[in-house]
Amino acid sequence: MTNYLTPNFSFAPMIPERASGSRVWDTEGRELIDLSGGIAVNALGHSHPALIEALTEQAQKVWHISNLYTTQPAQDLARRLVENSFGDKVFFCNSGAEANEAALKLARKYGRDHFGAHKTEIVSCVNSFHGRTLFTVSVGGQPKYSQDYAPLPQGITHVPFNDIAALEAAVGEQTCAVIIEPVQGESGILPAEREYLEAARRLCDRHGALLVFDEVQTGIGHTGKLFAYEHYGVKPDIMSLAKALGCGFPIGAIVTTDKIAPTFGPGTHGSTFGGNPLACAVANRAFDIINTPETLNHVETQGRKLQTTLTGLCNKTGVFKQVRGMGLLLGAVMADAYENRAGEIFNAALKHGLMVLVAGPNVVRFAPSLLLNDEDLAEGMKRLEAAVNEWLAAA
Ligand SMILES: Cc1ncc(COP(=O)(O)O)c(C=O)c1O
Repeated sequence: MTNYLTPNFSFAPMIPERASGSRVWDTEGRELIDLSGGIAVNALGHSHPALIEALTEQAQKVWHISNLYTTQPAQDLARRLVENSFGDKVFFCNSGAEANEAALKLARKYGRDHFGAHKTEIVSCVNSFHGRTLFTVSVGGQPKYSQDYAPLPQGITHVPFNDIAALEAAVGEQTCAVIIEPVQGESGILPAEREYLEAARRLCDRHGALLVFDEVQTGIGHTGKLFAYEHYGVKPDIMSLAKALGCGFPIGAIVTTDKIAPTFGPGTHGSTFGGNPLACAVANRAFDIINTPETLNHVETQGRKLQTTLTGLCNKTGVFKQVRGMGLLLGAVMADAYENRAGEIFNAALKHGLMVLVAGPNVVRFAPSLLLNDEDLAEGMKRLEAAVNEWLAAA
């Protein structure tokens, strides 16, 4: 097939055609088990009937109307987010990068408005990932994503993740925001330590800086709670969301408090598509399904099963040395003998009809549907074991 797209993506050698639950069929009719969840997006699996219903119902009403107006689906989704989080107000956009862009702009403007022009510094973590806009690649802690695009936005300091002393040294009167992923996703499914997030909260309070949690990947149920910050008992001032919020329909959001929200006065920030009624209608229905004890308990139960099975595979084959993460957002770290070869497991799994992810070169990542059932889990693990054994035999 001729590829008409720019070559920034390396597409896998199969073309998905349709999907249902945790199964995907390609154009050759081959069935695959999907434990990748479209990179932590398809939180209710593929083609969930309730989401199809919400989308098609809204499609009969209004698709787009612009932000000259508000709509019931947008107000309903904002209310759901507010009623179930630390926040009071919501801004809608279309992706995780845009959500973080909004969070960072809000923090910069809040610092300037309330403390003066010196309060512009953003503190972020080494190896973090916050999106692909120029601001978010610069704030992200992986220079490989930003270095080709210089000159970059200034006033950003990177500190090692989970290092309280480094954070203490970096945060000061000049800091307007500290941005943290409660679980570093793209760089290897690394959970923050409780003391680290507590220290970040304390330092932000001491210096009048805003604490931003990037919950684009952890958000909406993946960790077994709606938001990962709930595991830590540490509340941010701003939280960014995307991915699972729309379960595959593009939407992003930031949630913030009544103290900070007025900084985004009329005309200060915007988005043509943000709050799109189709996206919000789907997200409302998805939220109601995810935000139930049944779904969240299921995430914990299935997460434990997946973790146990992966640990068993570590012991049996020696391919992985550790399984980490929370709920159904898990990473299997390659054993030292196979360091940085996670991509080969991705390919081997695909050959065996299994879709997984990598998180950096050394971690195989799993972010399946939160509704993953026992049969798909078992079949996925069977295929992974076969793939690993075949790969090891050739390695
Ligand atoms: C933690 C985190 N923040 C931001 C983003 C960027 O989201 P998007 O690709 O929707 O812009 C991602 C995407 O992987 C992410 O994992």
